[in-house]
Amino acid sequence: MAAPTRFLTTAIDYTNAPPHIGHAYEKILTDVLARHHRLCGRQTYFLTGVDQHGQKVAQSADKEGISPREFADRNTEKFLALYRKLGISNDGWAATTDGRHVRVVQAALQRLFDCGQIYKAAYEGFYSVRAEQFLTDKERGPDGEYGLEWGEVVPLREENYYFKLDREWLLRFLVEFPENIFPTYRRADVMQATHKISGDLCISRPKERLNWGIELPFDRSFVTYVWFDALMNYVSFAGWLADEVNAAPEVRATLPNFADLWPACAQVIGKDILVPAHGIYWPLMLHGLGFRDEEMPKLVVHGWWNVSGEKMSKSTGNVVDPDALANKYGVTALRYYLMRDMATGSDADFSEERLIGRYNSDLANGLGNLLNRTLNMSSRYRGARLSRGGSAAEADEIRGLNEVVLEAVSEYGFQMDHFQPHAALEALWAIVNAANGLVETSAPFKLAKLTDDSAAQARLDAVLYVLADSLRVIALLIEPVLPDASAAMLAQLNVSVPTGNRLESALRDGLAEGHQLNAPTPLFPRIEV
Ligand code: MSP
Repeated sequence: MAAPTRFLTTAIDYTNAPPHIGHAYEKILTDVLARHHRLCGRQTYFLTGVDQHGQKVAQSADKEGISPREFADRNTEKFLALYRKLGISNDGWAATTDGRHVRVVQAALQRLFDCGQIYKAAYEGFYSVRAEQFLTDKERGPDGEYGLEWGEVVPLREENYYFKLDREWLLRFLVEFPENIFPTYRRADVMQATHKISGDLCISRPKERLNWGIELPFDRSFVTYVWFDALMNYVSFAGWLADEVNAAPEVRATLPNFADLWPACAQVIGKDILVPAHGIYWPLMLHGLGFRDEEMPKLVVHGWWNVSGEKMSKSTGNVVDPDALANKYGVTALRYYLMRDMATGSDADFSEERLIGRYNSDLANGLGNLLNRTLNMSSRYRGARLSRGGSAAEADEIRGLNEVVLEAVSEYGFQMDHFQPHAALEALWAIVNAANGLVETSAPFKLAKLTDDSAAQARLDAVLYVLADSLRVIALLIEPVLPDASAAMLAQLNVSVPTGNRLESALRDGLAEGHQLNAPTPLFPRIEV
């Protein structure tokens, strides 16, 4: 039986640097999907958070002369503040230094160790002191030597713990559950990489090399590999083993019931961390821990935001700061642009000009204009009181718009259920365009002048009503992407937020005869460049 709660998670952001636009995009995408489930009246739990351990955090902290904890805490605050500002509606917050998580990671390691899936072995090879990593032949230059970028390279023999990788199971699983990865074509990458991996996964780091991590419960001179730690967040903060290791009542009460949530219906990650972490290690870890094939989470893999076709990077200096953008253009403009301009799964190019262009054309000129003129005309011609217009409501132009609305609502629901907010928005904008089109073709300002013509007056009523009612539908459905604008639109339309399934309400609860609208306040002022 499926879990009663929709459980959505994201990758947890690495705290070695402040947040950038890719982090913001992923959280907004997942937020939109979670809000969509809530909008459909479905029980939902949304978890996101930060990845606080690991070598890069330790090194960055070292450079600044502060402790890794202080360093991670400082960046964690930046992520938290950003996500509050962006309206991210997460229910849980996964921070990997949290004791609730540490206990679960250690319990998992112990389980795998006890059943022989973790073993100790010595590895002998070349080691870069500067990069603090073992080097393979792949790192050798054309001359067969390790380049200067690796600094001092020494032969090293090190004992570590390894997690056995059950490749055969994974390959079988990937074939039997093709729907487990979205978009499905990404499965081929995982299969290819699975065929290629040799050996098992090293899941420990000796403390003399790195001590900023979670200690192995069976050997305190090691900490666990940061990916083993980080991946476990998806279950630790969902309440896995809570009755066993987080049983103190005041702790237990802070965690959800695992059985209600698991498996996640969307584990949203970027394409760079599918192989090997989420596509290979993660299912293998779950499998090793006794999870059944049907209990594997669904991976939703999004693309990358590039800048002028290039990868964002600190060294190029092209890292886009979402906080600065939100301050400059507003959260509404930023959320709309990020959701409208990227198809989930594909890459997109970030550009401030496009952000402004999208906002001005779709929100200021499109939706904003429709809302303003509808409320203004209703107020001027009808004292803001709506009437259906009797038989005029049966005219083709009115029916036509109603049909567009009907189709858009169903398309919108379908696209959101299939992780494609950009297409859901496109569907909603079919209403915006058709409604603005109706204003042009019916010319209400002309109808209003024909005061002695009862047919013209009925037509005016019917037009104003269908415009306002279409706006009600848009206001209800836009909530996942633009929660603030949705609330403001509903207030201007004088519509209260329905409980239960909003999609159903959108189609069912049309505005009443005599419905009184409120005064318009411009919602999407143009961004002037
Ligand atoms: N800490 C790991 C994830 C552990 S999950 C158990 C990590 N962190 S990260 O900060 O580097 O990346 C966090 C998320 O942001 C990843 O899903 C990554 O794909 C995403 N993005 C990072 N840069 C991005 C873009 N330029 N564009 C879109 N998303 C990108 O990996």
